[in-house]
Amino acid sequence: MKIAVLPGDGIGPEVTREAISVLESVGIADLTLFDGDVGGIAYKRHGHPLPAETLTMAREADAILFGAVGDPDCDGLERSLRPEQAILGLRKELDLFANLRPAKVYKGLEHLSPLNPEIASTLDLLIVRELTGDVYFGDKGERIAEDGGREGWDMMSYSETEVRRIARVAFRAARSGDCRVCSVDKANVLETSQVWRDTVKGAADSHPDIDLSHMYVDNAAMQVISNPSQFGVILTGNLFGDILSDLASAAVGSIGLLASASLGDRQTAYGTFGLYEPIHGSAPDIAGQGKANPMACILSAAMMLRHSFEMEAEAARIEAAVERALADGIRGGDLGGDHGTEAVGAAVRERL
Ligand code: IPM
Ligand code: MG
Repeated sequence: MKIAVLPGDGIGPEVTREAISVLESVGIADLTLFDGDVGGIAYKRHGHPLPAETLTMAREADAILFGAVGDPDCDGLERSLRPEQAILGLRKELDLFANLRPAKVYKGLEHLSPLNPEIASTLDLLIVRELTGDVYFGDKGERIAEDGGREGWDMMSYSETEVRRIARVAFRAARSGDCRVCSVDKANVLETSQVWRDTVKGAADSHPDIDLSHMYVDNAAMQVISNPSQFGVILTGNLFGDILSDLASAAVGSIGLLASASLGDRQTAYGTFGLYEPIHGSAPDIAGQGKANPMACILSAAMMLRHSFEMEAEAARIEAAVERALADGIRGGDLGGDHGTEAVGAAVRERL
């Protein structure tokens, strides 16, 4: 089982190191790891945030463990050379169109949420975000406005084919819960969203067990924090999913706990090819200090075992170990504690 490890910038290397060591401790034989550069570090070493050799390695792997990209030194570079292009490039080049972002408030951590604890304790949802389309990847540019000033423009679009395939991922994911899917769009204003909504409805016709609802994104933002228990799976496009997933993570109270999977259609010998990353960024302010909470990356590695290696039992063991560590009071700085990166990793390994 080949894993391409792309630690990237900032705290990426620290958190991926702990996740790998958890994977090794869970007793998987046949694990071969390849290391590659992405992000600002790749730009500094190779002149590009996603060097050709990294992309080739990623393609040839069965799964990718990704740390984080983002480096303030690179803020002044032209857009195509900025660290963020590494993750956008991997998603597009590898056709990783389905992003799964679970968000839940762990028992005993309700106080970290800015929400009232009774509401916070009911937050347990999965955002299924389309990842290779929308305004993110449409034509974009700058032109002269009628008044002679600058005008930026970005093209938003979704085809039925793109919507249908992500809807199917959401329906499938909902089956492991209670089959509720809420599709989020802005169909009262956007043509793109009208096609989205019509297509999701059509796709649901062949999935009669799915309890499908629709919501406008502004209302959804409000509902996620005022009444989160109404959501099982939230199905949405790239831009709205980007925003709602940060909103959901803020509602959880720490982005140091949230994992993600980005999946395509390609099947390897072991499962679905995918990229796994903690949703926190590179956190340059605490990089290299051994302070970052590796739990989000460890939980991302668990998602890798589930989706790319069909090792549900091992994935569940890792998740249970993280949950037990939290219940036992193991807390990174993001959770108001003083356990460093290695201490949190060791605590999870002890509880496997
Ligand atoms: C995310 C990030 C990325 C995105 C950035 C880094 C390009 O915010 O994964 O949510 O917008 O998709
Ligand atoms: Mg984001």
